[in-house]
Amino acid sequence: MTGLPPDTGPGASSTVKLWLCANDDLPDAIAGVLATHWLDGPEKETAERFMFERDRRQYVVAHTMVRRALAMEAGLVEPELMIWRSPRGRPSLQYPAAGLPRGGPELDFNLSHASGYNLLGVVRHQRIGVDVERLDRDAGSLGTIARAYSAGEQSWIGRTRVASEAWKRRVLRLWTLKEAYSKARGLGLGLDFDSFAFTLADEQGVLGFQAPADDTAGAWTFVELEPLPGVLVAVAVQADGGRLPGLQLFHGFPWKRTEPQLLSLPEPVRDSGNGLLIS
Ligand SMILES: CC(C)(COP(=O)(O)OP(=O)(O)OC[C@H]1O[C@@H](n2cnc3c(N)ncnc32)[C@H](O)[C@@H]1OP(=O)(O)O)[C@@H](O)C(=O)NCCC(=O)NCCS
Repeated sequence: MTGLPPDTGPGASSTVKLWLCANDDLPDAIAGVLATHWLDGPEKETAERFMFERDRRQYVVAHTMVRRALAMEAGLVEPELMIWRSPRGRPSLQYPAAGLPRGGPELDFNLSHASGYNLLGVVRHQRIGVDVERLDRDAGSLGTIARAYSAGEQSWIGRTRVASEAWKRRVLRLWTLKEAYSKARGLGLGLDFDSFAFTLADEQGVLGFQAPADDTAGAWTFVELEPLPGVLVAVAVQADGGRLPGLQLFHGFPWKRTEPQLLSLPEPVRDSGNGLLIS
């Protein structure tokens, strides 16, 4: 796909941008220097509080990546970005009084990090939630997670052998989608995971969505990706404006504007109401 439309203009739909960065993509010494210069006071305090070095490293790579990518998107410099958190912890960019120098004002982002991988999603004019998980998760903890899903989702998972690769994949595909959706809403784990449900294609893709009762958005675009073998990604973007123009996937630390992988996005999915069928 080429020639994605520009992201500006009233009512414009925006290209979704994703950055996937492994911790190993940023040497530790450089991450330390960037953190010293770019992170704000609360971020530095958080980084210092981790008990384990691997968790500190993950946090520093994730948050320097967020600042670098948002700086490029918004036309600001990294330490000047004011990142605020909602009472439930959802970060958002505080716009300067003069507006963002680049790309128009309405910019939303969401971050996820898991076991050495960091994922950032950015979109304009809509809300976005993202989640990344590795498939090599312990089957015991996945069983506990799956018990929080809707009856229909549990039945769909139950058509595979417990703890098999196919079973893990089904549990995690639903988990990443549910997290992405609730993070787009800013609710995180504050949303009961059996209060909404997905109907998934056996291999990849969302066929149907039963929204929770308080969802007024109307339509969502859901994307499932496996950008690296064993790394599952889900994206949820509010899609009231209709079909989004596309998705750009960037790999590695966002030092500069590299050529992204271009992907088309599926049609938005509307709340199907009760009686969702699981294929
Ligand atoms: C959001 C949440 C599900 C993340 O869980 P996780 O398994 O660590 O997931 P991820 O790695 O995918 O995402 C973590 C990132 O999501 C973002 N995030 C945090 N809270 C969020 C929220 N409510 N909505 C959207 N995104 C959120 C943050 O950027 C966070 O990373 P950071 O803390 O390093 O900045 C979990 O932290 C949560 O439920 N938070 C809400 C807690 C809450 O309701 N608090 C209310 C207190 S009164």
